[in-house]
Amino acid sequence: MSYLTATSIACPNIAFIKYWGNCEPEARIPANGSISMNLGGLHTRTQVTFDSGLASDQLVLDGRPASGPTLHRVSAFLDVVRHIADLALFAQVVSANNFPTGAGIASSASGFAALALAASRAAGLELDEYELSRLARRGSGSACRSVPGGFVEWEVDGCDPDSGAVSIAAAEHWPLGDCVAIVNRGHKPIGSTEGHAIAYTSPIQAARVADAPRRLEICRRAILQRDFDALADAMELDSNLMHAVMMTSTPRLFYWESPTAAVMRAVVDWRKSGLPICYTIDAGPNVHVICLSDKIAEVSERLRRISGVEEVLTAHTGGPASFIL
Ligand code: PMV
Repeated sequence: MSYLTATSIACPNIAFIKYWGNCEPEARIPANGSISMNLGGLHTRTQVTFDSGLASDQLVLDGRPASGPTLHRVSAFLDVVRHIADLALFAQVVSANNFPTGAGIASSASGFAALALAASRAAGLELDEYELSRLARRGSGSACRSVPGGFVEWEVDGCDPDSGAVSIAAAEHWPLGDCVAIVNRGHKPIGSTEGHAIAYTSPIQAARVADAPRRLEICRRAILQRDFDALADAMELDSNLMHAVMMTSTPRLFYWESPTAAVMRAVVDWRKSGLPICYTIDAGPNVHVICLSDKIAEVSERLRRISGVEEVLTAHTGGPASFIL
């Protein structure tokens, strides 16, 4: 029997400029570029062991054996790694998140970033950061942004056949916080993979994509210059645009609930009264409230007082995915 094993760790990320819709769905090539921040303090830890004694791939997720579509998606990703490494062994994957599932934090980003590192190393591949980012993208598009550290841009040049993400500023450049206002812990009825597939059924997706380079430029500059007002404006516009596309797709995707709108309104009011704060929302009802990291406690406290907010989860600007020896 032979074993090949490696372990890694990766943070989830929150997109300031969102990826929504593909140019090439199979390889997860996005219609537009995106920019995100890694969420430090939250992580997925994954161990991969290719083992000649296994008759199929196995997955243990948060302590429980997984099967069905979840195992199938991981197995399809391992096929990509096996193909690159010319390896014919099945693997056992043991993965655990230190944050609750269904809390509005996409575990697929940290999950596939950690899996890309651990599986490629266990398979004997020595990939650089950009190659690891491109590999992670094959599992979940946004996972490519969880490989580099800090503030990360997934660049898109036309329908680039093999795009990946790079860090535009390290975590230390600008310590920000993300206070996630949880308004519903339930699983979303339509996940992002299905959502990307119908993005172009919205009559406004083409306009959203056409304007993306402008929003990316404003966001990139705001991060590099630590200009919170400019960041807030670009981020809220981009989130609203993505949700406008979702709400006008066929079928319609409406992720917001009443407390979602209450939090959005409160954030805008608090910003007007001088608190540097803004919101962004992924494919779910929970609201990510971005602030300066020294305001995390105050912002969380304010959010908890809004009716319908069940819980507030916090994170700060985080580093790159890494191997654990
Ligand atoms: O990586 P996916 O397929 O889970 O898509 C991510 C979609 C959003 O979270 C809504 C936006 C983003 O850029 O992260």
